Amino acid sequence: MVNVLFVCLGNICRSPLAEGILKDKVKRKGLKKHIKVDSAGTSGWHINDSPDGRSTDIALQNGIKLDHSGRQLSTKDFIKFDYIIAMDSQNYNDIIRLQDSNPNEIAEVYLIQEFDDKQSGHDVPDPYYGGPNGFQLVYNMLDESISNFLDHIVKHHNLS
Ligand code: 4NP
Repeated sequence: MVNVLFVCLGNICRSPLAEGILKDKVKRKGLKKHIKVDSAGTSGWHINDSPDGRSTDIALQNGIKLDHSGRQLSTKDFIKFDYIIAMDSQNYNDIIRLQDSNPNEIAEVYLIQEFDDKQSGHDVPDPYYGGPNGFQLVYNMLDESISNFLDHIVKHHNLS
C-alpha cells in the first residue's frame, strides 16, 4: 500500500481538493487497493471543519464529491505516509521543520509542482481570500500535476 498525504495551510481549500482529485484518478485506474489518500493542514485553524464550499463546488463540477474533515499535520504522519505533498513553499518549509524534529521519518516530502515541468517554480496559490476564479486555477493546476504524480507512483511502485 502506498500512502499519500496532501498538505496546505488550512486543510479546507487546496489539500482536500487534491485528495479528492487523486482519489478519483485512483478509482478510475482501479488502484484503490494499492493507494490510500488523505490531507492535512500545517495550521490547526480548521480542525473538524468541512472543505470550503468553493472547493466542494469546483470538485462537484468535475464529478468529484469531497469527503474530508479538517485536521492538523502531526509528527505521526511522517511514519504513516510514504509521500507528503505540499501545495506551496511555505507549507513545504513548515513540513520540513516538523520532520526535522521526528527522527523516525519514512515520508518523502515534495512540492506538488515538482511533478509538472510546466508548473516548475509556481506554488499552488492560496485561494482562500480570492474569488471563484482562484479555485478554478487551483483545480486546473492540481488536475495536471496529480495526473503526473499518479504516473510517478504507478511507475515507482510497479502498480501497473
Ligand atoms: P488552504 O486555504 O490552505 O488551501 O486550506 C486556506 C484556508 C483557510 C485559511 C487560509 C488558507 N485561513 O486563514 O483560515
